[in-house]
Amino acid sequence: MADKSDTNYKTDTGELRILTRNFGKKDSYTLGVYESGGGYTALKKAIGGMKPEEIMGEVDKSGLRGRGGAGFPTGKKWSFIPKDSPNPKYLTVNADEGEPGTYKDRPLMEQDPHAVIEGSIITCYAVGIHTAFIYVRGEYVKSINRLQDAINEAYAKGYLGKNILSSGFDLDMVVHRGAGAYICGEETGLLESLEGKKGQPRMKPPFPAIVGAFKGPTVINNVETMTAIPHIVNNGGEWFNNLGAPDVGGGVKLYPISGHVKKPGVYELPLGTPLRDIIYKHAGGIRNDRGLKAVIPGGSSAPVLTADEIDVKMDYNSLAALKTMLGSGAIIVLDEDTSMVKMLKVLLKFYAHESCGKCTPCREGTGWMARIITRIERGEGELSDLDTILSISNTINGKTLCPLGQAAIGPSVSFITKFRGEFEDYINKGKN
Ligand SMILES: Cc1cc2nc3c(=O)[nH]c(=O)nc-3n(C[C@H](O)[C@H](O)[C@H](O)COP(=O)(O)O)c2cc1C
Ligand code: SF4
Repeated sequence: MADKSDTNYKTDTGELRILTRNFGKKDSYTLGVYESGGGYTALKKAIGGMKPEEIMGEVDKSGLRGRGGAGFPTGKKWSFIPKDSPNPKYLTVNADEGEPGTYKDRPLMEQDPHAVIEGSIITCYAVGIHTAFIYVRGEYVKSINRLQDAINEAYAKGYLGKNILSSGFDLDMVVHRGAGAYICGEETGLLESLEGKKGQPRMKPPFPAIVGAFKGPTVINNVETMTAIPHIVNNGGEWFNNLGAPDVGGGVKLYPISGHVKKPGVYELPLGTPLRDIIYKHAGGIRNDRGLKAVIPGGSSAPVLTADEIDVKMDYNSLAALKTMLGSGAIIVLDEDTSMVKMLKVLLKFYAHESCGKCTPCREGTGWMARIITRIERGEGELSDLDTILSISNTINGKTLCPLGQAAIGPSVSFITKFRGEFEDYINKGKN
């Protein structure tokens, strides 16, 4: 467990080892190894001597915002759960991790499942919840097995079940395996799927905090969000907040970086670390020392940045100022040889495939955009196709039931607007 009196969690390269402190340790996923590194001390502190409101207060002070994509303040989300609900309340940990480029929750679950569990137990204690689900992407078989084994160990040790650590607090925890659909990561699609129905988003309001799983008030939080909780409880919200880059706050973030870099991987860094530093200092720069063309900063739904825009800090507000988003924090790096036409085709085909079909602008619009970009890529495009894609994006914008429609137009609008010359050259060459 990171301790504020111990600065060993800072490496000499500037990376942090707080959420990732157990990565690479032998048998890191076992209870013994987790406890030998200070695991479950936060649970003992919370359940043994802190009132639920005190925990919520520390989480508020920490500035922690959800790490699943939308970035909603975690303490505030918990505070929406009614205290006097006649229906049971639930926690659902979102471990669907379907956003292309995002692979930060998987190592947490595989290498440190007890951290996810400890954060979840403290969350339930703070909010007054007695049943927690961890909804895991179906393909993540190792994560599912590691979580289940860890849950079994936690029950045997008295960290789960009845009268946890003699506190009178009861909690059951269930691992639920998804079936591999991106839309089941969207919180209400996830709830439908959890209830055994087709994973299609619900109309909001009511929001899950009021009517969620099985009609009970439900907290939905991402895996990474959960793993920050024990550190906030142990060291205080202010300590966590101060870990963020100057003027940014909000703690640490896992940045998974992929694409054309020399050292792809998951880097734990202060929230707000400049994008340039993540690419060149931590991930080793561009593969084969080529030039940089573009970067997708927050998972495939985030509008693309050009090479001239990478001096931005990787935090919620700085990226919003560039009309893009932190999202899941997943960085996809594209070198100078990347075809933006082919890249956009891959992305638009993904969104068309994953649209659940419930609302017309998204169902039809994503399909049309995918077919047009496929035609362009085949060399059969017209220059007017570019404006058609922009017009379809405009029609989808703000008119869909869930944010997937919006996610699909992030790439289409930004790729075509920022790299229009390349798209036009590609289309003109196809005509020759
Ligand atoms: C299409 C779509 C897919 C999503 N996939 C995920 C996911 O895989 N994991 C996740 O934590 N959040 C995902 N989200 C965000 C969730 O709806 C929700 O905001 C999040 O789980 C809340 O947790 P947090 O507050 O801790 O971030 C997705 C959202 C959309 C619209
Ligand atoms: S926006 Fe797309 S994914 Fe979301 S509900 Fe509508 S059709 Fe389904």
